[in-house]
Amino acid sequence: MDFLSRRTIRKYRDVKIENFKVNEILRTALVSPSGKNTQPYEFIVVENKEVLKELSTCKKMGAQMLENAPLAIVVLGNPKLTDTWIEDCSIVSTIIQLKSYELGLGSCWIQTYGRFTSEGVSSEEYIRNLLNIPENLHVLNIVSIGYPAESKRSYSDEDMDFSKVNYDKYGKKDNK
Ligand SMILES: Cc1cc2nc3c(=O)[nH]c(=O)nc-3n(C[C@H](O)[C@H](O)[C@H](O)COP(=O)(O)O)c2cc1C
Repeated sequence: MDFLSRRTIRKYRDVKIENFKVNEILRTALVSPSGKNTQPYEFIVVENKEVLKELSTCKKMGAQMLENAPLAIVVLGNPKLTDTWIEDCSIVSTIIQLKSYELGLGSCWIQTYGRFTSEGVSSEEYIRNLLNIPENLHVLNIVSIGYPAESKRSYSDEDMDFSKVNYDKYGKKDNK
């Protein structure tokens, strides 16, 4: 698989994702790496159109695509299990996106932790109320998933800023 052609996709075809693909994504997610293997992540799989529409207003901007997505996975983290829950939930979100890509699906990370609705309500509380999420879990983000209805160019060498790379010690720009 060529990761340079993985791009964020925000427009989706109005096609249901096959159950086996949803299951493959979840199987991969549930064994995603985590600090001390605490696996502090939990998920809510949303395919209900009404719920997706309500989720699309969970933040002021940047979640509208949920209204027309066939699938969203809400990523929850348990801070009681480990202080690396944000890292663990970020990794699992990325793995969900890469697995989706492998299955021919497009996806978008929708940040909700630390974000607010246009009425000023915390996105986390909005989603908690909507989806009945217990208080002991945080909502890190939502990953929207669907068959792409837009295409984007692959990344290429021009997009890569190798000045960010150092060798042996900071500031040494060659590996000789
Ligand atoms: C931590 C994080 C938060 C993001 N939040 C949003 C978001 O709330 N809404 C959105 O449309 N895209 C969001 N994105 C997607 C980025 O905008 C996207 O990854 C970036 O523009 C690079 O594009 P690419 O994924 O096609 O390489 C987020 C990505 C990350 C990693």
